[in-house]
Amino acid sequence: MSQITLTGIAKAYGTSVAIAPMDLTVADGEFLTLLGPSGCGKTTLMRMIAGITLPDQGAIRINGRDMAALPPEKRNVGLVFQSYALFPHMTVAANVGFGLKMRGIARDAAAERVRAALALVDLEPLAARYPRELSGGQQQRVALARAIVIEPDVLLLDEPLSNLDAKLREHLREDLRNLQQRLRVTAIYVTHDQAEAMALADRIIVMDKGRIVEEGAPVDLYRAPQTRFAAEFLGQTNVVAVTAAGLLPWNTGVAGPADGMVSIRPEDIAVTPALDGAGRVLSLTFLGPAVEYRIDIGGTVLRARDSGTGTAILPQGTQVDLTLRVPPHPLQGVA
Ligand SMILES: Nc1ncnc2c1ncn2[C@@H]1O[C@H](COP(=O)(O)OP(=O)(O)OP(=O)(O)O)[C@@H](O)[C@H]1O
Ligand SMILES: [Mg+2]
Repeated sequence: MSQITLTGIAKAYGTSVAIAPMDLTVADGEFLTLLGPSGCGKTTLMRMIAGITLPDQGAIRINGRDMAALPPEKRNVGLVFQSYALFPHMTVAANVGFGLKMRGIARDAAAERVRAALALVDLEPLAARYPRELSGGQQQRVALARAIVIEPDVLLLDEPLSNLDAKLREHLREDLRNLQQRLRVTAIYVTHDQAEAMALADRIIVMDKGRIVEEGAPVDLYRAPQTRFAAEFLGQTNVVAVTAAGLLPWNTGVAGPADGMVSIRPEDIAVTPALDGAGRVLSLTFLGPAVEYRIDIGGTVLRARDSGTGTAILPQGTQVDLTLRVPPHPLQGVA
């Protein structure tokens, strides 16, 4: 269990800024997710916490202890990266035990800890296998066991599931969350998958171009984002300008906020067929649990998502009325 504090941490490569001066505190036992587009600095931030990359300025503290002078192996940080990077010539047990050997832990004690770590990720029976004899998901779990066996203060996970298929990702994502809660280890998890971020995190940090754009609990960030960037990055949304009179450009039955921009999630728009409806279905996509419509209403094109089971699928060209299930959400800083 550990608190992480970053104070004015910054990193540039030549003239290109990877991380602009950043302050961030991760609470003891918190599961924090870094979410942002490719190149926004997520891995750079993780590498600095791990001690693999040195910051240009600022301080990193774990449990109040300044990390500046400590090399990676002295920071007691468990790492799992996108490529599992297991040693191919070592068995599963030897891979997991490697960090303990490096730390000079006695053989018997190490063997017991390896066994316990493998049990945690459900891999005990495969201890004697080699990485090439494992599936991708099993290899990923070995990487996880290897990270937790050292009983880290902090667990850093950089897109650990991105090599896996959708079903397995979902499964491992649950395992990971359960494991983190059982161990009560402070975790930072990098992803650019918004569903993964929401499913896992206590708190999400949305990053762009080396900066924190917005942060919050998943439900708050999704339902009440402050910025257009966060609104659009966390799932799909319609960003619509409100008229000077505070109205949306069509009659919704719900009053809009004052002049500015609002975000309306596709699932918050109810679509009903109406012969004199102001909207028209431009196209539709059947997604299984929902149907997604692109609808033209007075020259504005909106995305609406209908997950009503048993409702008829409205063909292209259908005239429709649109009503909002919740008031449109005002965005800041986008006029
Ligand atoms: N060793 C390096 N030398 C030069 N530039 C680098 C180096 N490492 C990273 N960068 C640059 O720093 C920026 C941030 O990179 P980083 O790897 O942190 O992004 P990321 O958010 O992890 O992206 P992704 O989602 O693609 O993994 C990028 O513009 C990248 O090109
Ligand atoms: Mg990265």
